[in-house]
Amino acid sequence: MRAIQILGDASSPRITTNDSMATPTPKGAEILVRVLAAGVTGDEVTWPEVYESASRIPGHEVSGIIEALGPEYSGPLEVGQDVVAILTTSQGQGQAEYTVCFADEVSRKPPGITHVDAAALPIPALTAWQAMVDHGNLAAGMTVLVTGASGAVGTLAVQLAQKLAIVGGGNAIPKVIALASAKNHDRLKQQFGVHEVHGYDTPGWEDNIRNVDLVFDTVGGDVLTKTWETVKRNGTIVTVGDPAPEWAFDAKVKPEESVSHPEVRHVYFIVRPDSHRLSQALEMVAEGAIKPLEVESFPFEKAELAWERARQRGRNKKVVITFETQ
Ligand SMILES: NC(=O)c1ccc[n+]([C@@H]2O[C@H](COP(=O)([O-])OP(=O)(O)OC[C@H]3O[C@@H](n4cnc5c(N)ncnc54)[C@H](OP(=O)(O)O)[C@@H]3O)[C@@H](O)[C@H]2O)c1
Repeated sequence: MRAIQILGDASSPRITTNDSMATPTPKGAEILVRVLAAGVTGDEVTWPEVYESASRIPGHEVSGIIEALGPEYSGPLEVGQDVVAILTTSQGQGQAEYTVCFADEVSRKPPGITHVDAAALPIPALTAWQAMVDHGNLAAGMTVLVTGASGAVGTLAVQLAQKLAIVGGGNAIPKVIALASAKNHDRLKQQFGVHEVHGYDTPGWEDNIRNVDLVFDTVGGDVLTKTWETVKRNGTIVTVGDPAPEWAFDAKVKPEESVSHPEVRHVYFIVRPDSHRLSQALEMVAEGAIKPLEVESFPFEKAELAWERARQRGRNKKVVITFETQ
């Protein structure tokens, strides 16, 4: 099969294509998907799992057709169905003509959404959903600040914040504040219903935002540090920004800011598969309740260009690689 590979190491990754990789066989209860479109998160070149895999195939989100079911699979999915999947962080390997998935990673694709648009959604939609609900305890009436709000995770977060708090009960839509580059401010207000926007390039932006219940940071670094000034005394900061803060994987390391803000809860997490919520997010997009991400798609042959694009700032579009049948 044809597949993309990341050779080299995280300090000098090299994107390449390979036309003669072995096609995987589904074992146990695995599901083999013929991939038609695969999403690209540019920072994945810094994630360790691809360098630890024998195949060096990247990719954690795909849309395609079920090709075969493992001998022990006994669920409702059938060969020939259109599906969308998020692949477990430690496994990945979605940017190939065929990939194996577990049942809890796979959702049916609604007919109202294309494979290309669907492939852009699993990581951003589930990351935003888990940040808001599982880690941020989103509730009606909250004030929520989203950094990197024009990015893939950010645009879904600003929309889901307004939808999910209502699903959870109560009647006051959260006030959503977005931090984004100035060129995206109108779009965030007009298309995504954001209540207030601030720009990174406004010196002291953090002093203009106060009493935030929940910060969802998708940028990290200096931006994450400044969000501590915006949050309520007992508020929450959830971050997924890359690189992860030092405190993310070591409970003994405390953020410096927690000395002056001891009651602020701070969480870093890695998105996990959830086929039920992925189905819900896909339905919300198919029904028009939330807007799909804008997508820039590249054929397999232009994979190198696709990755280069995915790693640029200011894109405003999620990169998707397509696999046409030969
Ligand atoms: N932990 C997890 O499970 C997980 C899951 C998904 C994503 N992530 C990480 O979350 C981050 C966002 O992912 P994404 O797919 O949404 O990326 P994206 O589409 O590239 O969006 C990134 C956003 O952050 C902004 N940004 C980037 N660098 C910045 C900087 N130095 N200062 C200010 N703003 C900056 C960009 O603004 P501009 O428009 O100005 O460029 C853009 O809006 C990535 O680092 C990704 O690796 C982690």
